[in-house]
Amino acid sequence: MKRSAFLVLISSAFALAQSPLWGQCGGNIRGPKTCVAGAVCKFYNPWYSQCIPGNNPGPTTTQQPTSQNPQPTSTPPPGGDLPSSLKWSSTEALIGPKNDGRNIDGIKDPSIVYYNGVYHVFASTAQSAGYNLVYLNFTDFNDAGKADFFYLDQSGIGTGYRAAPQVFYFAPQKLWYLVYQNGNAAYSTNPDISDPKGWTAPKTFYTDMPDIIRDNIGDGYWVDMWVICDDAKCHLFSSDDNGHLYRSETPISDYPEGFTQPVIDMEDANRYALFEAANVYRVNDYYLLLIEAIGTDSRRWFRSWTSNSIAGPWKAHLDTESNPFARANNVAFNGTAWTKDISHGELIRTGYDQTLEISLCNMRYIYQGLDPEAGGEYNALPWRLALITQTNSSC
Ligand SMILES: *[C@@H]1O[C@H](CO)[C@@H](O)[C@H](O)[C@H]1NC(C)=O
Ligand SMILES: *[C@@H]1O[C@H](CO)[C@@H](O)[C@H](O)[C@H]1NC(C)=O
Repeated sequence: MKRSAFLVLISSAFALAQSPLWGQCGGNIRGPKTCVAGAVCKFYNPWYSQCIPGNNPGPTTTQQPTSQNPQPTSTPPPGGDLPSSLKWSSTEALIGPKNDGRNIDGIKDPSIVYYNGVYHVFASTAQSAGYNLVYLNFTDFNDAGKADFFYLDQSGIGTGYRAAPQVFYFAPQKLWYLVYQNGNAAYSTNPDISDPKGWTAPKTFYTDMPDIIRDNIGDGYWVDMWVICDDAKCHLFSSDDNGHLYRSETPISDYPEGFTQPVIDMEDANRYALFEAANVYRVNDYYLLLIEAIGTDSRRWFRSWTSNSIAGPWKAHLDTESNPFARANNVAFNGTAWTKDISHGELIRTGYDQTLEISLCNMRYIYQGLDPEAGGEYNALPWRLALITQTNSSC
């Protein structure tokens, strides 16, 4: 057990040299042609080989686990110890479209803060005609389905393509920020989260799609912008549905101006292993990164990594299908699972400001799921929101 956790840790250090479990290792790629320890490269066809579980002695150079993977101690840190496996239980679908003439098909991509005793949720509305944003609030998850919808096209955010919001309070300016995609990386601000009409018109962090993204996006999409700040800098993450996680930074005193051209923070030759919906949180004195993957069963799930710095490098944490951060196989449902996808969402943070702090004790994650029988046009899929709660917390 300890040995395999250790090998998983090593694997990220060799990410560029060796492909991870379930990663591509041959065929139509420019990436690694060998697999990490514990996986062997299986040939499927001249265009695709994949690392599957198997006996591969792996790299012989070693690296000691560091404080990012602390061993259990008698006094866990306030945010809890980093878990070596996770178990969750899920609610039924809680939040879905209303019969209000808007003809929304799916509610997606939730962002959540708990502020002043109220859960504030921002989400994408999806339908064939396109995407926009919605806001709702409630004090108890049992009442989430009854919360009124405030469609944010009625605020300064306006109509047109807007999706995948992230909300936080930027304390230095005493302003709430809603970060989202509108073809570029956009944001609106509001001094009062309880006044959904108060959001400003979209502004963008970049003048245009950065060159590095244009050069690497292939036939993917530029999606899922995410901002997190430490004491010195704010960082802006985004994904391209093509196996790349991008990151830009700006001094916290310049935010929201001055973001650098992005760099590729992580990449995987198998685009589905590093697909989209990246979340980065602060926990204790390190950072937790989650990225949504599309699994070997075509279902969505989350992988995790840790780092001492928002800028990485990221060490593998719960990043395999057999020991995932969140996937249908570590989420319990009451009766038949209403979804097999654990897709785009957010952990409920301990605070609400730009540091995005979380605790690893009794974690709760709001996610989007989907009736496994649903099919058809992607924008019209019936995504719903639900909550998973950790059931194996050690604190
Ligand atoms: C909850 O949302 C409504 C809009 O639907 C808003 O008017 C109200 O101020 C919000 N309540 C709180 C406590 O933020
Ligand atoms: C599980 O589902 C059953 C049947 O729908 C219901 O009666 C029960 O209250 C549910 N239990 C929980 C913990 O939600």
